[in-house]
Amino acid sequence: ATPKAHQQAGNLWSSRMAFILAAVGSAVGLGNIWKFPYITGENGGGAFVLIYLACIALVGIPVLIAEVMVGRRGGQSPVASMRELTTAEGTAKGWRLIGWNGIIASFLVLSFYSVIGGWALAYVGKIASGVFTGADAATIGGAFEGMLASTGDLLLWHSIFMAVVVLIVGRGIRSGMEKAINTLMPLLFVLLFIMVGYATTTGKFGEAVSFMFSPDFSKLTTEGVLKALGHAAFTLSIGIGVMMAYGSYLPQKVNIARTAMTIAFMDTGVALLAGLAIFPLVFANGLEPGAGPGLIFVTLPLAFGQMTGGVLFGTLFFGLLLVAALTSAISMLEPVVEWLEEHKGISRAKSAFFGGLAIWLVGIGTVLSFNVWSDIHPLGFLPYFEGKTLFDLLDFLVSSLMMPLGGLAIALFVGWAMQRQGLDDEIGLKGAVYSAFMFVLRYLTPAGIAVVFLYNLL
Ligand code: PHE
Ligand code: NA
Repeated sequence: ATPKAHQQAGNLWSSRMAFILAAVGSAVGLGNIWKFPYITGENGGGAFVLIYLACIALVGIPVLIAEVMVGRRGGQSPVASMRELTTAEGTAKGWRLIGWNGIIASFLVLSFYSVIGGWALAYVGKIASGVFTGADAATIGGAFEGMLASTGDLLLWHSIFMAVVVLIVGRGIRSGMEKAINTLMPLLFVLLFIMVGYATTTGKFGEAVSFMFSPDFSKLTTEGVLKALGHAAFTLSIGIGVMMAYGSYLPQKVNIARTAMTIAFMDTGVALLAGLAIFPLVFANGLEPGAGPGLIFVTLPLAFGQMTGGVLFGTLFFGLLLVAALTSAISMLEPVVEWLEEHKGISRAKSAFFGGLAIWLVGIGTVLSFNVWSDIHPLGFLPYFEGKTLFDLLDFLVSSLMMPLGGLAIALFVGWAMQRQGLDDEIGLKGAVYSAFMFVLRYLTPAGIAVVFLYNLL
């Protein structure tokens, strides 16, 4: 393959806007609406949110810029791009691990993401059927528990979700992806605003705001800080080759720094709005903010069950959550597919099929960890892994280790190993702004990640 292979083949996003939509589609997903509220709840609120926002600014945005840049400059799959760049720049071969980390991590993350995406799929139907109308918290909680307990149900939803992802990715980067994202992202914003509006009528909006924004550091553990860092990486889809893969289709004229800021801004906006929509409901219904992965699947149906037009709004909301999950899942499959196409010489459709099949198989482990294997804690004998199911373990491995460490490696590679020329060609920053960016990327980003990891080791 040649450098910028996709550019030479004319296989690119149709415009800057198309890339933004795709990248925002990747970034905005279950991470914002499902995961952010539940881990904020588990980690005590305000202090966690503050650390998360700091991580977005100091780690997330700089790494996002660096990663998209590496992708565009390499112009191929993460593995091939890193090989290309290490050769062209004359740097150590060890940097190529960044590409491999990406392929493996995106494989693993999709295996469990698809299972949760399946829950969203299931809930579109459940809400539309009206079973939650007027139901109380206990009934709705019971319905969620019932779903988790059924291996067959979870497997079915996981399978459908993966099949859709494979179909879309198999059709190719433009025809498959751009269209869906174009119309549905704006709709998601509108619906979130409606939900926040509804949340203000519960009388607990103020309590939710202070839960989310007044930091109480006594509630924050060192593992919580690691989770905040990991989530900053997870939510921006960085450190695992996805943004590198998307960047490889980016036209040369697009300004990467500005584009990355837009992506981060939208992503953070959706997460905060989701929190503001959900926590008032949690407090108004006497639920536990730290209830875990089921948080939105209990609070939201409860709200939709009480509000006028709830069946319509609820169906729409979970429909959009599903779309957001799909556009993220699609991006997770992309590095794997790009790699199979380039390195194994398999067609795109076949790559999507076989890659998807392997991921689906591994995903069955996550399905089981919510029922048959729910009491099995692999590595549970180690201090960190006590009580962690296979799903918890995969999430920890990818979100708390592979993504932040991948991000660290990218920051170091771009900050210290790449030559000035390459940076000048790609980043789109000049003068003092460029210097400031490089300072952050070279010193603050790595230091931030290192401090979090050292704290957790000690
Ligand atoms: N950013 C996505 C979300 O918040 C998840 C994701 C992680 C997507 C890694 C791609 C790669 O839901
Ligand atoms: Na996100």
